[in-house]
Amino acid sequence: MVLQAVKYTPTSGEGPASLEILDQLQLPHRTVYEPIKTCEDGFDAIKQMKVRGAPAIAIVAALTLAVELSTARDEARSAAEARDHIVQRLEYLKKSRPTAVNLGDAVGKLSKLVATAADTSDANSQTVVKDYIAAAERMMVDDVADNKAIGANGAKWIWENTQAGKSRATSAVQDVKILTICNTGSLATAGYGTALGVIRSLHNADRLSHAYTLETRPYNQGSRLTAYELVYDNIPATLITDSMAGSLMAREGSNLAAVVVGADRVAANGDTANKIGTYSLAVLARYHGVKFLVAAPRTTIDRATRSGKDIVIEERAADEVTRIKGPQIGPREELGEPAMVSTAAIGINVWNPAFDVTPAELIDGIITEVGVVEKAASVFNFDSIFTYMAN
Ligand code: MRU
Repeated sequence: MVLQAVKYTPTSGEGPASLEILDQLQLPHRTVYEPIKTCEDGFDAIKQMKVRGAPAIAIVAALTLAVELSTARDEARSAAEARDHIVQRLEYLKKSRPTAVNLGDAVGKLSKLVATAADTSDANSQTVVKDYIAAAERMMVDDVADNKAIGANGAKWIWENTQAGKSRATSAVQDVKILTICNTGSLATAGYGTALGVIRSLHNADRLSHAYTLETRPYNQGSRLTAYELVYDNIPATLITDSMAGSLMAREGSNLAAVVVGADRVAANGDTANKIGTYSLAVLARYHGVKFLVAAPRTTIDRATRSGKDIVIEERAADEVTRIKGPQIGPREELGEPAMVSTAAIGINVWNPAFDVTPAELIDGIITEVGVVEKAASVFNFDSIFTYMAN
């Protein structure tokens, strides 16, 4: 069974659409889906990180409003009133988390779409709402297709750039070892994943020998979520703490094919905001001669932001660093009720930036659904992927 972070049922006949999200705060120990009925529910679920990951945040926000609109009684609005209402609800949802651009990108595209829908000659409130819902649903479907393409493009690039030249005389086909951080899989997207999608594609092609996942302090998306997905899909993998990455690279040397990470926002020059700890990994990778790749859909590339200096980094509450939540462990290793445990001296000051920025200089390639962008004359240029047309 495919792991689903988001369960969405479209409107059927007279019935409204429905949305449930897998509460990621309870993973990996409990699988609990939470219904999302209103934009306030969606806003809180994103803010509290019950659902997280750049593409998943955008999709849940878009679908939340689709559900709310499909449930609302028709208040006999005009097309223009329906447009204004939708844009206002989208702007509210956009404020839930600042760093990932996918949410802002989705809000921009959906707002434009409803403006066009409201401007058509026979528009009324129902046609505007219908167009909005269809577009929100399309975003979910497109995200899965994009992730599968990212996975295939990344797996091919890694194979060709790190393995193809190696002698196969004595080695097995499954030679590729990948290190990743945070969670970028089915739980962070509409399905399949970005960086974890690349790992999945290598595994499906029988080319992955091992995946390493960092614990990803302070929220432990690596140990709770990525490890859960890797176990769920039977992908050979090992969990290490964030501070072990350097030792792993020193031990593995060129056996480690690449570090592959996701992204929350890629600036126009290629500087990339991603989960805190990503920058340190990139520095380590450069020192050890390991390829460093960012896997992200084009919706994560923000050409309106010139460089990483212009990216707003979300700072989160101190207690995410000073406390940890998990089930108590009984004498026979059985799991009990979840409890909050203090892990730091009471009264210590805390700085908790949720993301950091990796300079483009340290990035070897950006894997998108339409191909891998590499630097030309030491700068990234995304023009070709935005003018790309599928044959
Ligand atoms: O704070 P989070 O858990 O939302 O951070 C998520 C990440 O940093 C991911 O790597 C990024 O959103 C890419 S998800 C495909």
